[in-house]
Amino acid sequence: MALSEVSEAHLPNAVSEAVSGAVSVDSAPTPPPMGDLYHYLTEHQLHDVVIDPADPQLLQLQWSDGWQQPLHALWLREQCVCDECRHVASLERILDQDGYDLDDLPALITVEADQTLLIIWADDGHVSRYSAGWLRHGGRPPNLSTLPQTWGAELTEGMPRFDFTALLSRDDVLLDWLEALRQTGLTYVTDAPTTEGTVCDLARRIGNIRETNFGSVFEVVALAESISNAYTAVELPLHVDLPAREYQPGLQFLHCLSNQTSGGNSLYCDGLHLAKVLRAEDPAAFTTLVRTPVLFRYHDQDCDYQNIAPVIELAPGGGIRNIRFNPAVMTTADCAASKFREFQRAYRCFLRLTRRPDLQAETRMQPGEIAVFDNRRVLHGRRAFAAQSGRRHLQGAYVEWEDVDSRVRVLRRYLG
Ligand code: OGA
Ligand code: ZN
Ligand code: ZN
Repeated sequence: MALSEVSEAHLPNAVSEAVSGAVSVDSAPTPPPMGDLYHYLTEHQLHDVVIDPADPQLLQLQWSDGWQQPLHALWLREQCVCDECRHVASLERILDQDGYDLDDLPALITVEADQTLLIIWADDGHVSRYSAGWLRHGGRPPNLSTLPQTWGAELTEGMPRFDFTALLSRDDVLLDWLEALRQTGLTYVTDAPTTEGTVCDLARRIGNIRETNFGSVFEVVALAESISNAYTAVELPLHVDLPAREYQPGLQFLHCLSNQTSGGNSLYCDGLHLAKVLRAEDPAAFTTLVRTPVLFRYHDQDCDYQNIAPVIELAPGGGIRNIRFNPAVMTTADCAASKFREFQRAYRCFLRLTRRPDLQAETRMQPGEIAVFDNRRVLHGRRAFAAQSGRRHLQGAYVEWEDVDSRVRVLRRYLG
């Protein structure tokens, strides 16, 4: 049996009974620790375990709701978390995965009164214990399973807003904010101080800042000698940042310290929405943007970053994983001459979608606001401004999604 068969997809109530707090265990005996900081709980009773007569390594757990859960004996052997198999402090495996017989079998297997599955292994007499809750979850931590909500111009009015002070002081507000970010990919944090470095205080509430060639914090001000269009007063068409990086930054922060110029409004588009609109309206253009590699390049005196990847990247399951759209650093499509016209047509379709008013949110950043958005999904831009008309200063930073997701999992451990 493939390990993938022991997945949440086979769990009827995987999401609802995911973690601690979901089920009351006041009266239940303490289950054996499963080498995990999650407390795997289940409301279902583990009745029995049946061994396949044709293959004694194939086991089937019998649950009170009728689910017959298939498991392989070797999978259980590998997952053992006794003190000899998992380091008690690090929770990491110390078991030698080549240290037991590939034909190993339970010499004894039984469901104990406290719902623990007890196995004594034939190979070496090793004793393993598995809690019912952990077994019910196939030994897998709950996934984050947030469904993205796509948006258009209505986000100008409906922007999800979160108070800076509450975010810094309250974990429940922090979790709500991160969940909102996972859903809409764009939020505004309000009433932040207008002091330099504040963006780091917010970013570090999540985790590490992703440092780039522009610094750990980048200064968005109009300069005479600029290394990026961002540091001028010109219009910035809707784009994602740093697609020339192999690992395009996940989350972007832009903190407004002052905005006294005429012009310079902020624009946002949901790239996920755009890609879905394109797929519906012009499937051929969508496929071209998925299949055509594009050379993205950013270079200055000190660096030369290059990345070849499509404008729309799909995940293995077919979902839209990454939008890489940035006219300023999109060098050229990496395709045969005979395919170039079709690429241009498809690219322009996407470009026109970024300009469609019903798909764009527009707002004027106020000092003390911090825009936070998914830089692999949401396009951002700004209208041109008159550099001489007053000061405009934003400070930006990046954080990776893996750090956001880690923070969400840790917060959910006790906030549910
Ligand atoms: C940037 C950027 C937007 C702005 O710095 O990457 O897009 O409003 N700035 O200046
Ligand atoms: Zn063990
Ligand atoms: Zn940008």
